[in-house]
Amino acid sequence: MSNKKVLVTGGAGFIGAHTAVELIQAGYETVIVDNFSKSDRTLLDGMEKILGKKPTFLEGDCTDKEFLQNIFSTQGPFSCVLHFAAFKSVNESVEKPLAYYRNNVGSLIALLEVMKENNVADIIFSSSCTVYGQPDSVQVDENTPFKKAESPYGATKQMCERILEDAYKTGYRVISLRYFNPIGAHPSALIGELPIGVPGNLVPFITQTAAGKREKLTVFGNDYNTPDGSCIRDFIHVVDVATAHVKAMEYLDGQPKENLYDVFNLGTGVGASVLELVELFKKVTGVNLPYTIGPRRPGDVEKVYANADKLNKAFNWKTRYTMAEGLLHAWQWEKKLMSK
Ligand code: WQD
Repeated sequence: MSNKKVLVTGGAGFIGAHTAVELIQAGYETVIVDNFSKSDRTLLDGMEKILGKKPTFLEGDCTDKEFLQNIFSTQGPFSCVLHFAAFKSVNESVEKPLAYYRNNVGSLIALLEVMKENNVADIIFSSSCTVYGQPDSVQVDENTPFKKAESPYGATKQMCERILEDAYKTGYRVISLRYFNPIGAHPSALIGELPIGVPGNLVPFITQTAAGKREKLTVFGNDYNTPDGSCIRDFIHVVDVATAHVKAMEYLDGQPKENLYDVFNLGTGVGASVLELVELFKKVTGVNLPYTIGPRRPGDVEKVYANADKLNKAFNWKTRYTMAEGLLHAWQWEKKLMSK
């Protein structure tokens, strides 16, 4: 049980909402902010059904320092900030690089400045495996050197990590969690992934195709240097991603009060290909999934998955859900959306 008050930015989004549920259920008083640029109130409503109470939510943009200062003044003091608010589509970032730099880098700088002005030091940052670019060693650990980011999205995350590395010495305690590929939904099917418009990510495109909302799935390339020719990723259940944030805060609580910067891979440690995931979806749901093979997608990394040993050891925790459960929960969430 905790008596701490935390701020969750981007908390109406996929990972932010699932994390806010775990935080509140772990006893953290939680304030959520979001500007609905990539979300709407659907997940906030679902959270209320799971929690049995309305989450504390204020609408606003994290690149707006005045908005942030007002949150800290009226809703604080916060013991920690969990910063999810960012654009996260690899392919969209190729089409809109400036929007990604302004939003992802700008919101972090604004937040760090307001944290400093309000004497809040602790931040859990949503980083990404895309910081590695296309690594030489496919299973990456936290010391794997960064290659050139394959997309503007990955470049924003590289920049944000560099900003945090430079800034922490001036008075922050920072945990960066490098997400791999979050998939799935809350087992209650009351919250899940809710892309606005045509899904960029694989699993929501799969579930929408299975639901008949999309005509067919296009697998972007089967001519990669992988066993079945399709890209390899580390698909981690979104509730495991959420729980890891609670563990990260507990870990931070246990560290000395002085300035700190630490990075952890947040993945399952198992690589799986796009085509393997497609076949597994059909197996666990029994639903037909029409797909064709298309050209490679600009910005895609060929293959990357996590060595998650450092996080597992430091947090004394491992992921609990399987890929199959992630796909099943994603499908149950899609069916719930269809029934609305
Ligand atoms: C996965 C694979 C596509 C759609 C995600 C997050 C990003 C970061 C890393 C956290 C690729 C293929 C996709 C489709 C397909 N995570 N695909 N057909 O690009 O790995 O990025 O994980 O920070 O934020 O977005 O995920 O789901 O878009 O693609 O073949 O219709 O599936 O080519 O190989 P990606 P994705």
